[in-house]
Amino acid sequence: MDSFQYRNGQLFAEDVSVADLAEEYGTPLYVYSRTHLIEQYNTLVAAMADVEPVVCFSVKSNTCAAVINTLAGLGSGADVVSGGELFRALRAGIPASKIAFAGVGKTRDEIRYALEEDILFFTVESEPEVERINECAVELGLKGRIAVRVNPDVDPKTHKYTSTGKKENKFGVDLSRARAACERAAALPAVDMVGIHMHLGSPLMDVSPYVEALEKVKDFCLEMKAKHATFRYIDIGGGLGIKYRESDEPFTPAQFADAVLPHLKEMGLQVVMEPGRFIAGNSGILVTRVQYVKDNAFKRFLIVDAAMNDLLRPPLYEAYHEILPVTETSETFFGDVVGPICESGDFMARDRDLPTASEGDLLAVCSAGAYAFAMSSNYNSRPRAAEVMVSGDRHQAVRERESRDDLVRGENIPEW
Ligand SMILES: Cc1ncc(COP(=O)(O)O)c(C=O)c1O
Repeated sequence: MDSFQYRNGQLFAEDVSVADLAEEYGTPLYVYSRTHLIEQYNTLVAAMADVEPVVCFSVKSNTCAAVINTLAGLGSGADVVSGGELFRALRAGIPASKIAFAGVGKTRDEIRYALEEDILFFTVESEPEVERINECAVELGLKGRIAVRVNPDVDPKTHKYTSTGKKENKFGVDLSRARAACERAAALPAVDMVGIHMHLGSPLMDVSPYVEALEKVKDFCLEMKAKHATFRYIDIGGGLGIKYRESDEPFTPAQFADAVLPHLKEMGLQVVMEPGRFIAGNSGILVTRVQYVKDNAFKRFLIVDAAMNDLLRPPLYEAYHEILPVTETSETFFGDVVGPICESGDFMARDRDLPTASEGDLLAVCSAGAYAFAMSSNYNSRPRAAEVMVSGDRHQAVRERESRDDLVRGENIPEW
């Protein structure tokens, strides 16, 4: 969270006072640091320089056009999981030649769109999907590139909802079936079988699952490479953890590189990576204003103007987000920070020491740059928050706050 620091007791985003941003743009408000995005991207690329990876920013983590465009400017590609994300990535300036398309349920329409745009490759998640991509490519008179997503059955030691590389998960093809899937793909007329893909889960705080997975797939990759001239990519997915709380000690890019590079070099394939959270997670905060301080017989609640429709991670993943007072204070209370939504699951912090605050005070929910606005909704008919990007002393709204009219856009009441 280096881009968010106190200066004379006031929280700043780079060189801009967070209180000033709240005044100008209102709350709840997402604030992103452009400098943080750039530093994270560059640090990762530098650590992995020996294999010159294609870094495909995982657009699902942050769909903001200004964020994607910042990364496009650094040479980033994109990992997308829907036609909508493909559209966003292209619109924000990512070249199609650097876009990988994942996801277990690609529709024919999405596949045709991606084929027509000539993306880098599809990461295919099942045998029927290989057939479908081939059929679509035949119809269009095009050729699709595919990387088979292998499920290496490795425990990423993360929340059960964000674990994706274990055998019971819906993702990828079991390693035992991957050979048959790759051979079948290689035999089809309208697809080139160009590599394999893995994504173990997220966030990973330890490098050992990556190493275990690479050890599991290495021989298979070398075999495919020897057999098929088209086979040239190993996509190692994303999942690199970040610091959510003071005590978190995620591995550094250098430690990651030390662990995985020997295996990757042995394979001699073009490396593709799909980080999302590592780049964007700590680039953002969610600024919210206290509406009420409510005490009941058991504890104190700060009721704020942000809610689970703005930030779903605490109820969905039992995720921890640091909460900072925008005006520094060392006083704390024990209790909850909650939103106004009619659900007991509508909380940002629960049963912990929190900064003391009064009605009208501003709080910053930290590590809100990934899987935050991107997962927001209109639940309880709440317009989505605005997003602002800061760079040094400059700031700009990069997504306007939704209006009440936005809430009902496209709705019709039948005349009958
Ligand atoms: C296929 C794939 N790649 C990359 C990512 C990005 O993960 P992270 O943001 O943790 O790096 C995800 C996250 O779900 C994913 O499913």
